[in-house]
Amino acid sequence: MKAGLKKLMALGLVAVLSIGLVGCGSKTADTSGGGQPALEQIKKNGKLVVATSPDYPPFEFMVSEGGKSNIVGADIDLAKKLAEKIGVELEIKGMDFDALLPALQAGKADMVITGMTPNEERKKAVDFSEIYFQGENAVVVNVKDAGKFTSEDQLKKAKIGVQKGSTQETYVKDNLKAENFKSLTSVPDLITDMKNGNLDAVVLNSKVAGINVGKYDGIKVVENLKLTNGGEEEAMAVALKKGDNKDLVKLINEEIKALQDSGEYDKILANAVDLVSKETK
Ligand code: ARG
Repeated sequence: MKAGLKKLMALGLVAVLSIGLVGCGSKTADTSGGGQPALEQIKKNGKLVVATSPDYPPFEFMVSEGGKSNIVGADIDLAKKLAEKIGVELEIKGMDFDALLPALQAGKADMVITGMTPNEERKKAVDFSEIYFQGENAVVVNVKDAGKFTSEDQLKKAKIGVQKGSTQETYVKDNLKAENFKSLTSVPDLITDMKNGNLDAVVLNSKVAGINVGKYDGIKVVENLKLTNGGEEEAMAVALKKGDNKDLVKLINEEIKALQDSGEYDKILANAVDLVSKETK
């Protein structure tokens, strides 16, 4: 333990030094902390950089407004509230879901807000805020298969689609022990693949599932199919790079609590659902 700590401190020192050096000639904002408390660093940069995978309506998705496409959704509104509270500008970076945590760890963003579930494995790599939304998983199928899956046992034998790097992937792999599953980068790819007959079912957040059912013809959510998700379900929290972020976590948690206590979070979510009709397909 002690030797490990020494080693870490030595590494930390090297990291601080090299960031200092790189910092001299570089104009890009360093969101990696540079040894400073995360909140201080964000204030110094004058902006909060949030990374997200905009394929998850109503939490994050693309809309076209005046010929331009923008990333919007409930998670983006939460990010706006946080930037306001810190008193800085907000920059949203869209990327593939499985690229988000590596980007966070590489200092390319201050936070990841993307409906991310704080599971034990991720907690070893990054820090999380409190949960701001507790959801659950659902199974989406082609309408013609609507009656086909009434138990997890039947689902286990199906060709299941999940998002690459997601907790749904962990669920089908480790809990369900599915015989045949496929991981794709984005949720729309999964739905399209299923509509094309390459998948029997897609496992995803029930709210996101509902939105997709409204958007695409010929698909539906399987009713009365209870999934055992290893207790994790679809809880959502803000992810932060491990480091000196005590003040930042406190600020995020206070904002989450305020939004929930005032009922404002529900409004944010309802508003995001309304916005979906403008979504870029
Ligand atoms: N909650 C799941 C997870 O953390 C899925 C999140 C997917 N988010 C997204 N924006 N596609 O793995």
